[in-house]
Amino acid sequence: MGHVTFDGLSLLSAPGRVMTPRSASEQLVAEARARLTGRRARVADVGTGGGAIAVAIASQCPDVEVWATDTSRCAVLLARANVRRHDLEGRVFVRHCDLLEEVPAPVDLIVANLPYVPESTAAEHQDLLAEPFESVFAPGDGLEPYRRLVEAARTWLSDDGELLLQLHRRVLAATRAELPALRASLDTPSVQHETGAARQGARGSLTAPFLGLRITASGVAHR
Ligand SMILES: C[S@@+](CC[C@H](N)C(=O)[O-])C[C@H]1O[C@@H](n2cnc3c(N)ncnc32)[C@H](O)[C@@H]1O
Repeated sequence: MGHVTFDGLSLLSAPGRVMTPRSASEQLVAEARARLTGRRARVADVGTGGGAIAVAIASQCPDVEVWATDTSRCAVLLARANVRRHDLEGRVFVRHCDLLEEVPAPVDLIVANLPYVPESTAAEHQDLLAEPFESVFAPGDGLEPYRRLVEAARTWLSDDGELLLQLHRRVLAATRAELPALRASLDTPSVQHETGAARQGARGSLTAPFLGLRITASGVAHR
């Protein structure tokens, strides 16, 4: 067991067993907070790992409840320990399940940092090889977990709900109405080229600059 600071919070970590949260994910928390401040809302953190994103959001947004899910039993245990550490048991609920399976609908905001690095490129990511392989790498082009989540979000999101995905140190944002465009964009060579370029530029570095990206019905826009 180790310790890590994420978004100013002291969290327990389990190097080699659960992915250690990266500072790049603090941007996902900031994007979530910008949408949640002063609102009562239900949030889902899908693929919560050690619970860093869920705990950070709940710590900063007292009126939200967060449902945090993971398919890894180790991750679920660690996330629950971090929830207890920050006295958030009444508002952060950790579930061992696939994607949103055990999250009650509707959800106002879904955030996710799921595995997305293509397995075939693992040798290029020496900096990630100490992490549990399946927490970071995904088959094929790596985007299938996100495609599945976007499909599921169409069922779970409230009418004015929103989805935020971390992808190669960027945040992709889509409202419920924009989900079909986001789904389509995950299949287009342009987005895969974008992500490939970001991945190459960031190789070996965890401090690559964050670039905001919003998918809208009219396409992909940097901001
Ligand atoms: C890249 S790690 C990120 C962990 C954490 N969100 C963070 O930012 O530190 C991805 C996490 O997603 C989990 N995961 C992978 N597939 C999943 C699925 N289908 N449903 C829920 N969790 C999943 C993995 O077990 C892993 O803990």
